[in-house]
Amino acid sequence: MIVCKSAAELEKMRAAGRVVAQVLQAVVARVAPGVATLELEAVADKAIAAAGAAPAFKGYHGYPCVLCTSVNEEVVHGIPSERKLQGGDLVSIDVGVKLDGFFADAATTVALAPVSPEAERLLRVTREALDKAVAAMCPGRHLADISEAVQQHVEAAGFGVVREFVGHGIGTALHEEPQVPNYVTPAKGRGPRLEPGMVLALEPMVTAGAPAVTIRPDRWTAVTADGSNAAHFEHCVAVTQNGPWILTEP
Ligand code: MF3
Ligand code: CO
Repeated sequence: MIVCKSAAELEKMRAAGRVVAQVLQAVVARVAPGVATLELEAVADKAIAAAGAAPAFKGYHGYPCVLCTSVNEEVVHGIPSERKLQGGDLVSIDVGVKLDGFFADAATTVALAPVSPEAERLLRVTREALDKAVAAMCPGRHLADISEAVQQHVEAAGFGVVREFVGHGIGTALHEEPQVPNYVTPAKGRGPRLEPGMVLALEPMVTAGAPAVTIRPDRWTAVTADGSNAAHFEHCVAVTQNGPWILTEP
């Protein structure tokens, strides 16, 4: 069952989304060569507490941190560590919070100079894929319109769409129905019709090479099987009568 949110509930989700956006801004401002990903974790931890929110990821199925920091071939769920960022790295930062009973979750990927043209293109195409997913969040469209928009854009650029992880409904739980794949399965049809009040976390995960991923022995970090770079952008978006409402933008 997909839970539709009332106008009052959407306002609460927007408040949670605003915190997520602020945390991401604070973390991104700190990204620089020589900075350990655990320092980004500390920035996020402070920013979440200062906003009066609670971290959504820490303790979730035993996940140890408030942030996921996924560098280069790490796709998602990288665990902050003593690893220091270096010039040329791509780092995906994913954060979720709970505020006033509602969750919000968003991610961005940033590059440290010098950025290769191919890495630049990977980030741009993944960001554009998220934009296209957002644009499909209109009443009367179907879930598969979102998936298809992402897949077409990514594959037309020659990049890979990760299959093992998907976007998701979000609300009073971090993960609600439905799952939001970034690829279509024609045999499964167009999926549920999008209705006002639905809120989805849209999160294309894109690989520069083949889309296959493996999990590191830490049991969290998903990495590309071929070692190619990956990018990840995520927003929580509500379907409204007037079209998409991005809840996790600043
Ligand atoms: N954005 C991811 C998600 O929607 C991050 C989850 S990390 C976890 O699931 F630690 F909470 F699993
Ligand atoms: Co998510």
